[in-house]
Amino acid sequence: MKENLHMIEVVGESNYKFVDPVKVIPSSVARTALYEKFKSKILHNPSLNRMLVSFQANKQVPFYGWFKYREGFSERLVTYLLQYLKPQPGLLLDPFAGCGSALFAASALGWQTKGIELLPVGSYATQARLVAHRVNPKEFNKVAAEVARINFVEYYDQGYALKHIAITRGAFSSENEEQLIGYISYCHNFVTNNDIRTLLLYAAFCILEDISYTRKDGQYLRWDARSGRSQGKSVFNKGAILTFCDAIKQKLKQMLADLYPYANQTALLNDSLLPKISLLKHNYIPAIEPTLYQGSCLEILPTTQTSSIDFVMTSPPYVNRYDYTRTYALELVFLGFNEEKVKELRQKMLSCTVENRDKRAQLEQHYTSMGLSREFFRINSVFQQQSALQEVLTILEAYRKEGKLNNANIARMVRNYFYEMCFVIYELARILKPGGMIAMVNDNVRYAGEEVPVDLILSDMAESFGLTTRYIWTLGRGKGNSSQQMGSHGRSELRKCIYIWEKQAL
Ligand SMILES: C[S@@+](CC[C@H](N)C(=O)[O-])C[C@H]1O[C@@H](n2cnc3c(N)ncnc32)[C@H](O)[C@@H]1O
Repeated sequence: MKENLHMIEVVGESNYKFVDPVKVIPSSVARTALYEKFKSKILHNPSLNRMLVSFQANKQVPFYGWFKYREGFSERLVTYLLQYLKPQPGLLLDPFAGCGSALFAASALGWQTKGIELLPVGSYATQARLVAHRVNPKEFNKVAAEVARINFVEYYDQGYALKHIAITRGAFSSENEEQLIGYISYCHNFVTNNDIRTLLLYAAFCILEDISYTRKDGQYLRWDARSGRSQGKSVFNKGAILTFCDAIKQKLKQMLADLYPYANQTALLNDSLLPKISLLKHNYIPAIEPTLYQGSCLEILPTTQTSSIDFVMTSPPYVNRYDYTRTYALELVFLGFNEEKVKELRQKMLSCTVENRDKRAQLEQHYTSMGLSREFFRINSVFQQQSALQEVLTILEAYRKEGKLNNANIARMVRNYFYEMCFVIYELARILKPGGMIAMVNDNVRYAGEEVPVDLILSDMAESFGLTTRYIWTLGRGKGNSSQQMGSHGRSELRKCIYIWEKQAL
């Protein structure tokens, strides 16, 4: 193993001033040492697989399958983790709640649950699901059946037209957009019951991708050639694009199918929208409703009471350049977001894109205003003393200067990601009750051939804040970080893991 020959001087959190211009020779000494520290905790758990930590396993599960939030947990994963690790219900928190799968699955097992989510897409989906739990299915069925028969275009009201942003303009054929707006207008102008209107609008929200020329693709929206938008090197065809009428009918059927077990069966049986009856084996409507806070967990967690949470079940964004605000741009426009609000939101999200600027000043200000300056500096010092992380950051910074990164801001993104996660982990350790546990799903990544062992770095930060790592469970086969990197560095295993951290009981 070669020694790292360069020297850096750390100037504040965000600047690394190179005092020695000698070319950096990459070293993995600190990462190897970290691996040695944790290797006995890295275990393959045959009960878990990659499908379980994704939306895939939710497709057929009542309520969970309505909106395709690709980043969502499966209901089975949450159930497995709770039953295996903490069968006694208490208070569960998910600080990156997405569409609330952890909250709903835990609630169904008798847990009280709280979630924090910044992207309005996730909180809209969660709110809609709460409405679904209380709506009168018979009434909903009646209105949905009426709606499905009307000619939406006749109800078109310009006041409800979508105010597109640059990355969504032209996403729908003019017929589909006209029908969509007619439907939205009808819901607002003619459906008087608030809950039913909410669910009808949510049905439209859930089909935006299906009726568009776009496909969600992580960092951006991919455009089908039929959109007429200029193409990259390869021409993309997403396959069948549903008409708005067909898509909305399918969605309403799906929703009714899930609500059906709670409906008056005779009334439903006579209706044309009635889906095939499938008897549910599980009660998906929890006795205790989840509580959701919309905002950034970086701001909300410090206001949460110390030692108040029994279990944290979460999956933060991965440090993989995935841009939620671009991927979910159609849904954001549907919710009324304009260009400026989308950009603002992008900056507020946990840093995982090359565009995110550092949040050090905001965090310092937030902690100071709460009288938590000492905590702020303690968190900073844990970040700066994590040597495997500093090793990676130094190398990436040098690669940036040498032009070896395929985007110059990758080094900054990785640094900001861990800086912010250090605050999140400090807060989770603080608010966890003694004897409490954290289950976190995340992916390791690689940039310019340098592996970033996200699992080990975050586990080490957790231990700096007094937690113990019980397991780092690996899930199935690892994956390359991007196709370009596989080309130049060969495919090698990158761990996708669930980490289990615990706080010692008193
Ligand atoms: C991997 S997803 C989690 C999905 C979730 N487990 C589910 O089942 O739907 C990460 C989530 O973190 C959210 N997020 C990003 N930055 C955030 C922040 N600063 N505060 C709260 N949530 C944030 C994203 O919008 C995204 O929904």
